[in-house]
Amino acid sequence: MATKVIKGGTIIAADRSYKADVLIDGETIAAIGDNLSGDEVIDATGCYLMPGGIDPHTHLQMPFMGTYSSDDFDTGTAAALAGGTTMVVDFVLPGSEGGLLDALQEWFQKAGKARTDYSFHMAITGWNKQIFDEMPEVVARGINTFKHFMAYKGALMVNDDEMFASFQRCAEIGAMPLVHAENGDVVAHLQQKLLAEGNNGPEAHAYSRPPEVEGEATNRAIMIADQAGVPLYVVHVSCEESHEAIRRARQKGMRVFGEPLIQHLVLDESEYKNEDWDYAARRVMSPPFRDKRHQDGLWAGLAAGSLQVVATDHCAFTTEQKRFGLGDFTRIPNGTGGLEDRLPVLWTKGVRTGRLTPNEFVAVTSTNIARILNIYPKKGAILPGSDADIVIWDPEAKKTISAGTQKSAIDYNVFEGIELTGLPRMTLSRGRIAYRDGEVLAEAGDGRFVEREPHAAVNRALSTWKELVAPRKVERKPEHMPAGV
Ligand code: URP
Ligand code: ZN
Ligand code: ZN
Ligand code: ZN
Repeated sequence: MATKVIKGGTIIAADRSYKADVLIDGETIAAIGDNLSGDEVIDATGCYLMPGGIDPHTHLQMPFMGTYSSDDFDTGTAAALAGGTTMVVDFVLPGSEGGLLDALQEWFQKAGKARTDYSFHMAITGWNKQIFDEMPEVVARGINTFKHFMAYKGALMVNDDEMFASFQRCAEIGAMPLVHAENGDVVAHLQQKLLAEGNNGPEAHAYSRPPEVEGEATNRAIMIADQAGVPLYVVHVSCEESHEAIRRARQKGMRVFGEPLIQHLVLDESEYKNEDWDYAARRVMSPPFRDKRHQDGLWAGLAAGSLQVVATDHCAFTTEQKRFGLGDFTRIPNGTGGLEDRLPVLWTKGVRTGRLTPNEFVAVTSTNIARILNIYPKKGAILPGSDADIVIWDPEAKKTISAGTQKSAIDYNVFEGIELTGLPRMTLSRGRIAYRDGEVLAEAGDGRFVEREPHAAVNRALSTWKELVAPRKVERKPEHMPAGV
């Protein structure tokens, strides 16, 4: 097998930065050091070498709100590679009839077109014996995370008792629950109230989902996870109310992780007031963009460690699809894109401003989630033995985001016009050059499923602790009992 050596770059790891050559043999990193040689030399002078981005939150070709999201595993992962992301984790959604395993089969089929490596989270959208029985089988197939929607009433939403049952099952089988935390009952009422009052435009989407409904649901999910004795991962943390709940839980020693999206870090709710209906509707997603005051806290949380991961929730609908909701904002398909933009926008708005160090950037785009998903250091690291998923990052390269040049299949970009400094020059995926200077070279089908083991260290630690502090019966001698009992 031909070897490659990347020379002249500076490796940025989550814990340090250092100059070294990287030798790649086949699909993995064989050595890191000085003066390495290989069959093919890649010059990275002036560039950073970072572990490929991992986006743990995508919805490619997702059946949702009467349609399918328009980026599939082909176009979505092309966008990912152009933006320095080498692995995506998508959500498997069981239908109302089908079980988990049927749905998983369907998602494997769809993901056959992936250009990047991929994994899945399994959604739990109801509760019955079949689901209970199939959960360990899902784990046996390499999936150790289960997603719960506390919103989307009448569609994907689960109730507290269903969630508690599923969380307990996760604890038993060594898996981790994820939550979309919004109070779906209150959202449903607010939606109907707003519509009845004639508030039917895209701005009403934000009115119907205030930060309080997210904060309440986050607190509730944390309590339920604690009672079930299982770690918890909160997706798309958009506001201070939710972040506060996570921060407080972590200070109490609870194993809770929080994932803000690149959208919520840089875009705010004023977007929904735009006079152009299409412009506003294209930005409808849940949770909605927030008042700007929430952003400082989210950035600080990434630096302080109370939030661990920046994702995209890439769920791209065309303008035409968004227009399903003309006259009724509750019918606007929820979702925005970001797979190509996550790393460059985070670098430009985070590292270039000094809000994040380059090492923190690597932590929140790759290393932390690899640990949480229990695939570290196969993924999320530049280390001997790791998959050779490497971004060669040019910190001075410039570009202005434009839908006209993006890889995504949709006709707009919510980050349109943002001027970037810092871009991938080349993305390697398991040792192959998958993207170079604007061109995606990986082909549909090059991606591979990444199996993830259950019983991660954090699950084992929490189970040990919960067992130690479990309620225990006080054994009383007969003479200390009331007479005659
Ligand atoms: O609006 C969103 N976020 N759409 C995708 C589904 C979800 O809630 O993550
Ligand atoms: Zn969600
Ligand atoms: Zn999502
Ligand atoms: Zn006694």
